[in-house]
Amino acid sequence: MQIWDVNMKRKVHAIAATLALLFIATFWTSTVAAEFLLSQPAVIQVKLGIAYALLVFIPVMVITGASGFALGGKSTQALIVAKRRRMPYIAGIGLIILVPCALFLADRAQNGLLDNSFYGIQVVELIAGAINLVLMSLNFRDGLRSRHCRQQ
Ligand code: HEM
Repeated sequence: MQIWDVNMKRKVHAIAATLALLFIATFWTSTVAAEFLLSQPAVIQVKLGIAYALLVFIPVMVITGASGFALGGKSTQALIVAKRRRMPYIAGIGLIILVPCALFLADRAQNGLLDNSFYGIQVVELIAGAINLVLMSLNFRDGLRSRHCRQQ
């Protein structure tokens, strides 16, 4: 029996994709909640928490993408083609904008520098995060839809 068979890949993909979506949704909502509802120490804690969570989040994203391509890298099914096209944007926005923003904000917050440049970058991070949240939700929806197609 092959250990790394297609069902295994599906399971790994489903778990990693769910975790990835939960992570990015939590990053976004906890940032907004801290900024608008909580105090400055809460903002500092949330920024630090997100920076550490990247250590888990980045591998989870890599596993989501790699298992997705292993499952549907050559598929011509429209839903999968759409998912494959979104993935470079998700990865690019994540690595070029979100990770540097999260590290910058955590560093600034740790040093008590909640100044104009902090809030400028915070706005950029929230907008880029919202775009990635939408793209990842669309991939999640299309993943569930394509599974549904397969079962028919
Ligand atoms: C952020 C990125 C992604 C998310 C959130 C995501 C989410 C999901 C979800 C929730 C499922 C259903 C899993 C299940 O319960 O069986 C799924 C299945 C699938 N995804 Fe993804 N996915 C992502 C990226 C990708 C990429 C880049 C590809 C590659 C083209 C891909 C290809 C597939 C395929 C082929 C399936 C299996 C459909 C089936 O069971 O027949 N996914 N995805």
